[in-house]
Amino acid sequence: MKKLFVTGITGLVGSAFVVELFRQRSDYSIICLVRHGGGRSAEERAESIVRDECRFDGCPEIAEKVLKAMTVIDGDVVTIDPDELARDPRLAGVTEVFHCAADVNLGKDPTGKTFRINYEGTKNIIRLAQLLKVSAFHYVGTAYVAGKLFGTAMEDNPIDSGFNNPYEESKFKAEMLVRGSGIPFTVYRPAIVTGRRSDGRIRKPLAFYRVLEFLGKMKSHACSKAGVDPREWFDIGLNFTTQPSEHVYFVPIDYVQEAVTALFQKPVRNQAYHITGDSPVTTRQIEDTICRILRLDGVSVEAHKQLETQDDRLMGRFLGDLFPYFSGDIKFDQTNVRRELGDKILDWEYGVKGLETLIRAFYVDYFPGVEWIQQLATTQPDREPRRAGAR
Ligand SMILES: NC(=O)c1ccc[n+]([C@@H]2O[C@H](COP(=O)([O-])OP(=O)(O)OC[C@H]3O[C@@H](n4cnc5c(N)ncnc54)[C@H](OP(=O)(O)O)[C@@H]3O)[C@@H](O)[C@H]2O)c1
Repeated sequence: MKKLFVTGITGLVGSAFVVELFRQRSDYSIICLVRHGGGRSAEERAESIVRDECRFDGCPEIAEKVLKAMTVIDGDVVTIDPDELARDPRLAGVTEVFHCAADVNLGKDPTGKTFRINYEGTKNIIRLAQLLKVSAFHYVGTAYVAGKLFGTAMEDNPIDSGFNNPYEESKFKAEMLVRGSGIPFTVYRPAIVTGRRSDGRIRKPLAFYRVLEFLGKMKSHACSKAGVDPREWFDIGLNFTTQPSEHVYFVPIDYVQEAVTALFQKPVRNQAYHITGDSPVTTRQIEDTICRILRLDGVSVEAHKQLETQDDRLMGRFLGDLFPYFSGDIKFDQTNVRRELGDKILDWEYGVKGLETLIRAFYVDYFPGVEWIQQLATTQPDREPRRAGAR
């Protein structure tokens, strides 16, 4: 029996990985570090998320298998004492570590919380892994350790190109700790994780999904102010003050799950893998698809608009931390993924059709009581959106 120490099992990626691993394997037990919270113990939180994820993945029967093999330790990656934890008998015999816990806040980090969780937390988990003398350290990083790079980001030897936010910097520095730890490692670097390929759904919408939420609410508010039915086309006059990109790497959660689980079972080669796919979408495709679904006219994406409106600034305040991901022009090299898993695994693309599916799925699942959104998310528009300035 192999024994895996896991952090981040309650998250989007960690839960998907663990459930897929148990679908494929019966020779693992897992020790999970989980925080208590919201009036629930660490065990209760882990158990309910395992059940949710299994239901989401269409394999509710796997939940019992995971729960039987799972031991939960209540703890925080920042405040654990690795020396003390390494002596905990429950950790005896741990052979590998899968470290996925992180703070995925992309905004400012005034209190240093993101840095503490992502950098100091990783330092603690590495120390623990060293004391346990594990044979492999699996680390979930991010493709955006590439930061402000323009051009092609390679999987090996990441370089400091400057960063868009403290999150990227903390993840870059944490990856460097992993690389320098002396433990054989694999680094998995996802891009922007979005809904699955089959039906666009996601168990936990993060990051990009804030754009959808914001635009849905913005239309609701603007229509009610103007006394207009929100089911009709509406000229909202909004500009995303950013340079549109040709390479926005949306990566379906089921691809992340499939690729990470497959790589996890390959020999550890001290390598990183871009879990980004190889068929990015463009900012314009994203903008057009949202506008088609929400029946919005008058949206633009322009870095240097002459007159910024109050609404443009409001949007900048709410969503500005996401703009670098819709304006950068990084291409993520796939050499290591192709070598390890073959070309076939990369043979998928979201395209406009996939974007439409994931955006519709989000509105259907996460705005259940909003009748106008439900109607627009489930019907086809009678025309294409008109861009700002094109009337
Ligand atoms: N989602 C993306 O688009 C994306 C893209 C690129 C890379 N990644 C990377 O993927 C990994 C997983 O992220 P995710 O998307 O699954 O995000 P998520 O859903 O927010 O999950 C984060 C996980 O980390 C745990 N965690 C956070 N702070 C912790 C702490 N101080 N101590 C212990 N556990 C802590 C969370 O536990 P709680 O439930 O207690 O909060 C949760 O299980 C991260 O390393 C992230 O950098 C994600």
